[in-house]
Amino acid sequence: MDSRQLDKQYWDNRYKKQQTGWDIGYASPAIVNYVEQSIPKTASVLIPGCGNAHEAKALLAKGYQHLTLLDIAPSLVKKVRQELKENTTIQIICQDFFQFDRQYDYILEQTFFCALDPSLRKDYVRQMHKLLSPHGRLAGLLFQREFSQPGPPFGGSKREYHELFQSHFDILHLEECPISIPSRQGNELFFELKKK
Ligand SMILES: C[S@@+](CC[C@H](N)C(=O)[O-])C[C@H]1O[C@@H](n2cnc3c(N)ncnc32)[C@H](O)[C@@H]1O
Repeated sequence: MDSRQLDKQYWDNRYKKQQTGWDIGYASPAIVNYVEQSIPKTASVLIPGCGNAHEAKALLAKGYQHLTLLDIAPSLVKKVRQELKENTTIQIICQDFFQFDRQYDYILEQTFFCALDPSLRKDYVRQMHKLLSPHGRLAGLLFQREFSQPGPPFGGSKREYHELFQSHFDILHLEECPISIPSRQGNELFFELKKK
């Protein structure tokens, strides 16, 4: 599978066929914890590759209002828009992350990086940098393991991520996540990066 095959059609079909093994069914505790401790309620927050929007729903319940959700899969976006139709502050956008062009104070990463073909990793770094306001932060979870089957997901290591991000970001935190969900325990890094 190459990067051209992991397109809108591919992801939309995964949702239509309900082949969504990545979906843990609730907001990742590590991300909710980070947001509560580090993100002011006034900050603008982007969640790219939002999927079923578990994190966004948890943050809305905690009073975060300036949220933007982005995903490439049209049927998924339609469903999420329907579920969140009572909320007038959230923005839900169906677009390719690499074509998106706005700026946010914070961006949250949850199984989006690992869904992209590894050939796009440098583009991901440049695009995340572009989408952040000056001093903006990118935070979330990355796998620290390899996968034997052809991806997605695509894995990686702490060393690889360090090399990848250091040109565009100050690495504030990149350590094994102490509060991963049980099935990912020991296989995830929590990271927080500040735009250079
Ligand atoms: C592995 S899923 C993760 C979804 C969600 N974050 C979760 O943890 O349940 C990857 C998500 O990224 C979306 N996606 C993949 N490529 C994308 C792109 N280029 N632009 C925007 N969204 C994309 C897919 O449609 C899918 O919803």
